[in-house]
This record gives sequence, structure tokens and C-alpha cells, in this order.
Amino acid sequence: MKIIHATDYEDMSRKAANLIAAQVTLKPNCVLGLATGSTPIGTYKGLVAKYEAGDLDFSEVSSYNLDEYRGLTGDDPQSYRYFMNDNLFDHVNIDKSRTFVPDGSNMDAEANCAAYDGLVGAAGYPDLQLLGIGNNGHIGFNEPDDHFSCGTHCVDLTESTIEANSRLFDRIEDVPRQAYTMGTQTIMFARQILVLANGEKKAQAVHDMCFGPIAPSCPASILQLHPNVVVIADDEALALCKDKLA
Ligand code: F6R
Repeated sequence: MKIIHATDYEDMSRKAANLIAAQVTLKPNCVLGLATGSTPIGTYKGLVAKYEAGDLDFSEVSSYNLDEYRGLTGDDPQSYRYFMNDNLFDHVNIDKSRTFVPDGSNMDAEANCAAYDGLVGAAGYPDLQLLGIGNNGHIGFNEPDDHFSCGTHCVDLTESTIEANSRLFDRIEDVPRQAYTMGTQTIMFARQILVLANGEKKAQAVHDMCFGPIAPSCPASILQLHPNVVVIADDEALALCKDKLA
């Protein structure tokens, strides 16, 4: 794992946008694995700015998002499809028919997840997978468990994730209780993984991801076994790793 220290959120976002831009420049028809949440918003802004400056061309890129709330349609402002359109896809020249997010409106979990795995596999898996990390160490919506997950599946969100995500909803009761998520194994098939983390709430999870035992109680810890992981984290998120990095 390569750990890059960022001073703050802006610095983290700028560094991440630069890495993703390099990937798209080096391989214009690359497959990107994308994430939602607060963490990558600044990165997506940076990518939009590079596109607007004429420095980046998304016309041949395809993308696969990690996850989606089960029961939400893509036009629901709380859905991850809406988030991706709003934060990135609507502002760059990506062909939306090549952007994929699990279909939250399909309640047939088994068929839906198998279809999504088929799509990601047929695309050859992401060249670059962008990840945030949950306060509890989740990646995608792969929550702490007694085993690591495999392919795309339907999960019951933990109370801590529902609580963390409720900040984006009017009421905590409105947060969906289930989601479709790429599995840990699918995430590990990406050729490069870029994990972003900022803020003190992520400090324990970042420590356990990088230096804890590899255990499903911290799903992100499996990334220690991946040959090409870059973590970009700010001061606060690296607070518990200082002695290890010195
Ligand atoms: C989002 C996702 C989640 C988030 C994580 C951190 O697609 O897969 O794993 O990356 O919950 O969320 P934020 O960035 O809101 O702290």
C-alpha cells in the first residue's frame, strides 16, 4: 500500500483528481470504478474543472459504480445514480450509456446482482477503482462481518452506516435499510485501487485498513493483499498512523 499524506480535504481531492486524470490520459478507453459519498465530491469537481479546461476527455471512458440503495429509482435525488449524474456525468463528455450503477429499482436481488457482476466482468473489471471508507471500515457497502463477501449482493446496512448516511436525508427513517453493492472480491479484481479518506471520524478505519489484522471485521483491511493500492488521506484521517509513517 502506498500512503500519500494530504494536508486537508482540498489537497486530497486535488491529488486524487490528478491520479484519475493520469489514468484517463494514459488509457482513454479505461474502465473506472466509482464511488459516491462526501469524500469524492471534491475529486469529481477537480475532474470537471480539468475537462472544462480542455485537459481531459471522457468520451471513451466507461464506469461502474460500487453501490446503490435498494428501492430507489435513478431519478430519486437520494439515489447514487442521481449523485453521479449531478456530481460528474452531467458535466463531462462521458457517454452515459457506458456509465453503470446497480439498478436500485430492481427488487429481484439475485437477478439484479448477477446481471451487474456479468456487466463488470464483461468489461474486464476496473483499471482504477476509487473507494471511500466507512467509519466502520466498510468499502462499498461491504459491512463488518464474519467473512469477506464475493460478488455483487444485497446487504442490510448497519445502524452505524444508517446513522452516518442520515445526514443526507431529512429524517433517519428515510434512509433505505438495504443496498446493492459490489462484493469485496469484485473490488479486489480492479488493477489499481485508490482509497480516499478525510476527517477524524475515519482515523480508526484508516489505521485498521493499513496496519490492522486482515479480518472481515474491517472489510477494508483486505486491501493489504492487493498489489496496487494508493491511499490518499488527510492529517486527521492519518492521526492514528503517525508513528507507523514516521
Ligand atoms: C459509496 C460507498 C461507501 C462510502 C463510505 C464513505 O459509494 O461505497 O463505501 O465510500 O461510506 O462515505 P463518505 O465519503 O460519505 O464518508
